[in-house]
Amino acid sequence: MPIQLPMAQKDLTFAVTRNENAKTVEEREQILADPGFGQHFTDHMVDICWSEWGGWHRPRVQPYGPIQLDPAAAVLHYAQEVFEGLKAYRWADGSVRTFRPDANAARLQRSARRLALPELPTDYFVDSLRQLIQADADWVPSAPETSLYIRPFMFAKEAFLGVRAAKKVNYYVIASPAGAYFTGGIQPLEIWLSTHYTRAGHGGMGAAKTGGNYAASLVAQQEAYENDCQQVLFLDAEEGKYLEELGGMNVVLVTRDGRLLTPESDSILEGITLDSILQLGRDRGFTTEQRRISIDEWREGVESGEIVEAFACGTAAVITPIRQLRNADVEITMPEVAEPVSLSLREELTGIQYGRVEDRHGWTVRLDA
Ligand SMILES: Cc1ncc(COP(=O)(O)O)c(C=O)c1O
Repeated sequence: MPIQLPMAQKDLTFAVTRNENAKTVEEREQILADPGFGQHFTDHMVDICWSEWGGWHRPRVQPYGPIQLDPAAAVLHYAQEVFEGLKAYRWADGSVRTFRPDANAARLQRSARRLALPELPTDYFVDSLRQLIQADADWVPSAPETSLYIRPFMFAKEAFLGVRAAKKVNYYVIASPAGAYFTGGIQPLEIWLSTHYTRAGHGGMGAAKTGGNYAASLVAQQEAYENDCQQVLFLDAEEGKYLEELGGMNVVLVTRDGRLLTPESDSILEGITLDSILQLGRDRGFTTEQRRISIDEWREGVESGEIVEAFACGTAAVITPIRQLRNADVEITMPEVAEPVSLSLREELTGIQYGRVEDRHGWTVRLDA
């Protein structure tokens, strides 16, 4: 018999079915000793249904496993799908916290609006994380810089081949233990500048976290790998001059006179790591500028000594310095800096996330109690 756990809403109560085939303690410990990224999954998952006539209903925590889909499910044909990515951190006192889940909830709502999907209320979103973590708390690793990556996602499940917004949608949450992103010191990035492919255009869905944007980035990412680069930087689709973002991270330039510059565009993802870093920068007295930044401005700024650092940021790697940006026509090599701002911001942000540094903005939220 499923146990009933109350949710914040009176009308939405999770039915919990425990996984009878959960990993043994030994199996789990073996995975947590070297989890890698996105390869292993916890024992449970969250599943909430939505329909045009019934709204959000039937919230469940159930054993992790395959999802049954009709071959005509709209997502398989028209990619009506959105997702999120955030982490749960094990603090020294044993508790489990996450970072700014309300911001991920708000972004999922914006993505859903763009993809004509239903909006999941913020408290349902945060409750769904809490339900999964309470079922799978032992899966949150405790080694330095490790975490449990949480992947909420929502897609059109209705079996219908007409092109219109689906009337039946499901929301899921799965989780995957993640090892330290860098082992043996932080490796600065070499970035491939894509001029052949763009990721998104004005009025498109570039600001939404939806699979199609990642599908559009893969061939350019392959080009990056072929050129010994770890990431690809996309330029704006209209003029091919202005910085947008990397395949899976935002980009920031640091000036000698204490400014943090980052691209503004309606076709890039509004990164929660970026927003947090800009806030921490302002707290330190940096000026932040979100505006159009051209490749020429970056190159000339490095040549004149005005731009002293560049870094990428996102949930997965937090902050990673950029060493070089290149393609057949462009090469920008960042100078060596004695005390990089990027690394000290990284230290502060991860300190807040893991409970080592005071959380003065109230960003961390407890999930295991
Ligand atoms: C395309 C893209 N841009 C930016 C980011 C950074 O967003 P966040 O800091 O919320 O993880 C991500 C995800 O990490 C991403 O996939």
